[in-house]
Amino acid sequence: MPVLPHPHRPGRYAVMLVCLGNICRSPMADVVLRAKVAAAGLADRVEIGSSGTGSWHVGEPMDSRAAATLRAAGYDPSRHRAQHFEPDRRDGFDLVLAMDAANLADIGGHSERVHLFRDFDPIGTGDEVPDPYYGGGDGFQEVLAMVERTTDALVDALSESQHRPGSAAAESQRQSQRQSQRQSEAEADLS
Ligand code: 4NP
Repeated sequence: MPVLPHPHRPGRYAVMLVCLGNICRSPMADVVLRAKVAAAGLADRVEIGSSGTGSWHVGEPMDSRAAATLRAAGYDPSRHRAQHFEPDRRDGFDLVLAMDAANLADIGGHSERVHLFRDFDPIGTGDEVPDPYYGGGDGFQEVLAMVERTTDALVDALSESQHRPGSAAAESQRQSQRQSQRQSEAEADLS
């Protein structure tokens, strides 16, 4: 599993998820990652977006089969609108995760900040998320299972990075510890 690169801005982490049409795979990953990041208390520090290398569906909601699969699992797919991946914004994200090898090639290939999404999947690391668009409903269920597993691992990595020495969150925790220590010492001096 890749090590999460340091954020461009301390205390913030911007993740962009990329597929072809931005109506099936990356929107599913976006909705699930958003829910898990919120549940982990990281919503104000992690920015999540998704986009497609193709522009055919820009402005459209999620594919109805992807949306139904998410809804059945308790997620809310309603806010998604498809966006086109802007290549000149690539370097502004802390982490860009492509669903398959063609998507990865289309956005300029692998780098410290650009990986396959399933490089973070504890099972099947480095595999692709297969495109379910032309298949049946099972494909969407299979994508959801991969997405849930992989986003769990990503949220663990993001939580862990908040506590890394040098991170803004770890620094602010140290500052408040120092402040309460100084206060206890001052109180002890007075007694
Ligand atoms: P996605 O799936 O890349 O997971 O959003 C697709 C959606 C649309 C098309 C292909 C793949 N399409 O050819 O329109």
